[in-house]
Amino acid sequence: MTANTDITALERDLVSEISAARDLSALEQVRIAALGKKGRVSELMAQLGKLAPDERKAFGQAVNAVKERVTGALEARKSDLEGAALDGRLATERLDVTLPVRPGPIADGRIHPVSQVYDEIIEIFGDMGFAVAEGPDIETDDYNFTKLNIPPEHPARQDHDTFYLQPKADGSRMVLRTHTSPVQIRTMLTQKPPIRIIVPGRVYRSDSDQTHTPMFHQIEGLVIDEVTHLGHLKWCLEEFCKAFFEVDDVKMRFRASHFPFTEPSMEVDIDAAAIGKPGSWLEILGSGMVHPNVIANCGLDPETYQGFAFGMGLDRIAMLKYGIPDLRDMFAADMRWLRHYGFLSLDVPTLAGGVSS
Ligand code: PHE
Repeated sequence: MTANTDITALERDLVSEISAARDLSALEQVRIAALGKKGRVSELMAQLGKLAPDERKAFGQAVNAVKERVTGALEARKSDLEGAALDGRLATERLDVTLPVRPGPIADGRIHPVSQVYDEIIEIFGDMGFAVAEGPDIETDDYNFTKLNIPPEHPARQDHDTFYLQPKADGSRMVLRTHTSPVQIRTMLTQKPPIRIIVPGRVYRSDSDQTHTPMFHQIEGLVIDEVTHLGHLKWCLEEFCKAFFEVDDVKMRFRASHFPFTEPSMEVDIDAAAIGKPGSWLEILGSGMVHPNVIANCGLDPETYQGFAFGMGLDRIAMLKYGIPDLRDMFAADMRWLRHYGFLSLDVPTLAGGVSS
């Protein structure tokens, strides 16, 4: 066999191997076997040295021509295979964007009872003309306590189980707010009466058991103007309870109590009949007429302005309304619990539609 018939046979072999390669990795094997360092084309080149000088040139040119044609065939096959691979992917990943939305994510997602109850409360008070205000979770000692008529040595500070941050250079300390009441201060310092706000938010106290978690939620209410009195407070809370528990009538008990920032102060209980369990009273919030000192601390004249405030444990009334036995479950991020109590994401509470349905 002459060197030239070797070349012709080799080219025929290689071209048929190339067209037989079924995918890119098979083709790569063919390329290595042909053009790699120890490949068959390279080996032919190595024979060059054994040839008579007059044969070398023609042989060398012939091998180079084969190498070029094989390279061309490899490239052509490669781009065919790549095109086929892409077509295959496009076929499997085909997406018909004109199809209706799949129910998946919407059907799976649930609104947490805390978010649901926030929305319900905001809907109810919004309808009564209250705006939503917010404040920071990290609060100054001054706003969380002092301006609320709780001076530095006041025993009420101990009741709050406060989380303090490291003192600053000037000795002042920031706190994780122990209630939403500092937003009363922030609002009175920046807004002119009449003020009607509710303040949903997180609050923090160092306490943990079945009915206490170190972080929980409150809704604060504040009304400041020149005429609001205790009767308005009672009416507002009564209307709220009827709307929230979705009953025509709620029996309520206003119990004399004490908060440094209200005078008089009242804790409010509802007859558990509202949640289908008549026979006992359930405490749901603290309230009162805003203390004149608090109004003055915010630069308003307590001779002119007055009003009421209340603070409600949001998790607590969510537990009452929806029959949730353990507060800690609220924050366990357990999907099974969320599916059991959670609400559909598109069911936005409205008074017209029934706040919880
Ligand atoms: N801030 C009080 C608490 O957390 C609740 C409250 C708010 C009472 C407003 C009266 C008026 O216990």
